[in-house]
Amino acid sequence: MAGTVRVLLYLISPPLSLGVPVCPGTENKLSTLSDLEQQYRTLRKYYENCEVVMGNLEITSIDRSRDLTFLRSIREVTGYVLVALNQFDYLPLENLRIIRGTKLYEDRYSLAIFLNYRRDGNFGLRKLGLKNLTEILSGGVYVDQNKFLCHADTIHWQDIVKNPRTHPLVVPTNSSVTCQKCHRSCNGRCWGPKEDECQSLTKTVCAEQCDGRCFGPYVSDCCHRECAGGCYGPKDTDCFACTNFNDSGACVTQCPQPFVYNPTSFQLEHNPRAKYTYGAFCVKKCPHNFVVDHSSCVRACPSNKMEVEENRIKMCIPCTDICPKATHTSEHNQHTYIWTNFTLFFSFFFFFFFALYAVSCGSVCLCVCICSSRLHLLPLRLSTARTDIAA
Ligand SMILES: *[C@@H]1O[C@H](CO)[C@@H](O)[C@H](O)[C@H]1NC(C)=O
Ligand SMILES: *[C@@H]1O[C@H](CO)[C@@H](O)[C@H](O)[C@H]1NC(C)=O
Ligand SMILES: *[C@@H]1O[C@H](CO)[C@@H](O)[C@H](O)[C@H]1NC(C)=O
Repeated sequence: MAGTVRVLLYLISPPLSLGVPVCPGTENKLSTLSDLEQQYRTLRKYYENCEVVMGNLEITSIDRSRDLTFLRSIREVTGYVLVALNQFDYLPLENLRIIRGTKLYEDRYSLAIFLNYRRDGNFGLRKLGLKNLTEILSGGVYVDQNKFLCHADTIHWQDIVKNPRTHPLVVPTNSSVTCQKCHRSCNGRCWGPKEDECQSLTKTVCAEQCDGRCFGPYVSDCCHRECAGGCYGPKDTDCFACTNFNDSGACVTQCPQPFVYNPTSFQLEHNPRAKYTYGAFCVKKCPHNFVVDHSSCVRACPSNKMEVEENRIKMCIPCTDICPKATHTSEHNQHTYIWTNFTLFFSFFFFFFFALYAVSCGSVCLCVCICSSRLHLLPLRLSTARTDIAA
């Protein structure tokens, strides 16, 4: 019986081994729900267990005594990060490594942190927990009007922002409170006063010969040029994050293409190792409800193409005449697609167990089946905003 329970529990937890948990992000700017409880619960539902936000991470109007530790799971944000109108004192985005800035807040900023304090009290943001943030690929930084915030002005933002010359950095040194100094091992740059809160520099400390980031001051310490944020060593598999695409752990300029040129036969040949681009990842299969357009996973076909299904793969092909009126199944089912995979997966297993029990234990099985069908519904509700990348 205990064995069965363990198997059931295994089935309930999403198969994380498949890849990286991804969530879609939001675009609400400063508009928030009037109910603060609801605002918090929505945030939590969106980002709990999420590692890559494919969109913007917006944290707004959260009151002070909320548990935000679930934000620790986030490693990458493809759009911008907005933190505004909150009253909590610590932002635990400790594992956030890279903000891509494919969308910018007010067309300028990929990190905007402002007005995080209560006018009539002593509550507000005191510390940025962005210990691992070492790369902002596009967009500037705006950190202002956080009455109690310390140490943001000690950060060497030029080391983080890829092109500090073309993007604005607005981080005034203005705190009404007296802040503790950085730990003496930090050389004056830190996210907080403790020894393990030093800012780690990965660009401005590099040898001149490095054309990106480095893991030490010598010429032999340059990161691979496809790395973003820094690296552990010189190879394309040693990167903290990828500038372009992550192909099973290696950072590449382009995912393996569907056709490769054979210089001997002067022909394009089908590439059996081809992968599709999905955000900053190369994947063998597009997620459910994404359509293949050329070699990418897209939400919907462009207007000059139509969706067809071939070999159980949905793809976009050019219309020969006029395109039939688009059936935008992909767009409005965005949230349902995530669990249909699970439904199939679980149904199969529960059917299997049902059969097994029916054979082995007549009456007990009835009870187990009732329980398991209840359990079976649970993950579907929990995982409405998430999918996995099959790497
Ligand atoms: C930050 O990155 C380092 C590697 O540089 C890693 O060891 C660590 O677990 C990450 N997370 C935190 C919270 O420091
Ligand atoms: C600095 O803070 C004071 C009071 O908190 C405020 O009046 C002033 O405008 C601020 N200066 C800047 C540059 O934000
Ligand atoms: C690449 O993706 C894999 C999961 O598919 C992940 O474990 C790994 O950390 C990623 N590497 C980088 C450099 O982002």
